[in-house]
Amino acid sequence: MATTHSAPRFFPISIVLLFFLINVSFTKGEFGDTIARRLPEETLTHMKFFWHDIVGGPNPTSITVVESASKEPYTFGYVNMIDNLLTVGPELDSKVLGRAEGFYAMASQDDYALLMIQNLVLMDGKFNGSTITLVGRNPVSEKVKEIPVMGGTGFFRLARGYALAKTYYADPNTGDATVEYNVYVTRFEGNEKDYQ
Ligand SMILES: *[C@@H]1O[C@H](CO)[C@@H](O)[C@H](O)[C@H]1NC(C)=O
Repeated sequence: MATTHSAPRFFPISIVLLFFLINVSFTKGEFGDTIARRLPEETLTHMKFFWHDIVGGPNPTSITVVESASKEPYTFGYVNMIDNLLTVGPELDSKVLGRAEGFYAMASQDDYALLMIQNLVLMDGKFNGSTITLVGRNPVSEKVKEIPVMGGTGFFRLARGYALAKTYYADPNTGDATVEYNVYVTRFEGNEKDYQ
């Protein structure tokens, strides 16, 4: 069959090169198309903030939703739901960077250890609207607790990493605690706009 125009001879080569350069492969018509063979460059972000667990007073941000079988606080089975403020400094009235939404549960029968699940909802600067999800064990009696980053959204899509949490101040009367978090989290350059 005749074509109505003839393409330049280099045309097929340039198409092959284009596909090679942008690392894209399409398998049309299949369920789940490969859109990129390689992800963009990965970078590591460090962020530091203070996490405020307010259990006492008129405006708690951390409330007990499940009591333990023994009815003793902070024993196996105890669950607290949190919507804790994240601030730039240790003072509660310092600049707000976001909130930690989630819960912590006493998950060890022998130890003082929590299962913590929290979404860090970031509210400042370029991170505003993005989230980082932390899921892991918090061995309360250890000086520094390491909690894995399970993923993220927006700026932190496909994130991985870890958080190091260290108690800054615990009020023995109210039970309130201020914890310093250092989060080390990866991201892919441009990923919040490239894959919609
Ligand atoms: C974060 O984004 C929200 C919604 O777009 C906006 O209302 C708010 O002012 C932003 N905050 C900061 C600190 O930029």
